[in-house]
Amino acid sequence: MVTDQAVRSQSTGTAVRLAGVTKVFGHGERAVTALEGLDLTVGAGEFVCVLGASGCGKTTLLNLVAGLDESTTGTITRNTARPAVMFQDAALMPWLTAARNVELPLRLAGFPPPLRRAKVAELLELVRLGGAGDKRPHELSGGMRQRVALARALAATYRVDGDSRPPLLLMDEPFASLDAITRDVLQGELRRIQRSTATAVLFVTHDVREAVRLGRRLVLLSSRPGRVVRQWTNTAESTEAELVDEISARLREVIRTHAAS
Ligand SMILES: Nc1ncnc2c1ncn2[C@@H]1O[C@H](COP(=O)(O)OP(=O)(O)OP(=O)(O)O)[C@@H](O)[C@H]1O
Ligand SMILES: [Mg+2]
Repeated sequence: MVTDQAVRSQSTGTAVRLAGVTKVFGHGERAVTALEGLDLTVGAGEFVCVLGASGCGKTTLLNLVAGLDESTTGTITRNTARPAVMFQDAALMPWLTAARNVELPLRLAGFPPPLRRAKVAELLELVRLGGAGDKRPHELSGGMRQRVALARALAATYRVDGDSRPPLLLMDEPFASLDAITRDVLQGELRRIQRSTATAVLFVTHDVREAVRLGRRLVLLSSRPGRVVRQWTNTAESTEAELVDEISARLREVIRTHAAS
């Protein structure tokens, strides 16, 4: 069954809670309210997808959760290790090999070299790039670069200091620029990795099919200022196709309202 607004996290703990979060950019007449009174909870190990019209505040939301920006009012409580982020553009260091790119967050986190090497090898295997560690970004395809970025983001969720808090991954349309087949492969890999590592994921996408394929919970934001207008839980009781149809219809409504305003 498709459930409605009062969906609560079924997980044991809460990874992130946003309560009444408002974000205003600028001042006076030029002020833009990107988010207004946004409430959202992500459970530990939960995969939550966020959908909404262009400009409704999705990237702003991720930036606030990542601590890259501050909310104007409201509270954000994060009970996780420092979050890892992954954006649409792989943004690898061009002068470093794939393995060195993945190693970087481990180095910054203070992992000793032997442990770093072992973890890099493990992560490259995980994204099925075991043989490509010594390649530089320009020698890799776009899909391979995104896989390196995925491995690097996962590396950034590792803590050396005994931080036992659950990992959190923030993803902003990470697969949007990929061809359908590569996207399909990476979606499958992300889902597999997310399950095996119990990482909480907040995943922004424009693609309803992608959201339904990946997310256990799906959150639709209103057009600007962004608020949660509706949530769905992806259960076995509704087929993916039904859910895609229902969410697409609601997203179209939201976009229409946006166009009219
Ligand atoms: N640093 C900033 N300064 C001023 N306005 C900003 C800033 N960042 C975002 N905005 C505005 O806030 C609103 C939300 O932007 P945001 O990037 O979060 O949207 P989005 O939902 O991620 O859009 P898209 O789907 O196109 O990526 C937009 O109107 C944008 O112009
Ligand atoms: Mg955005």
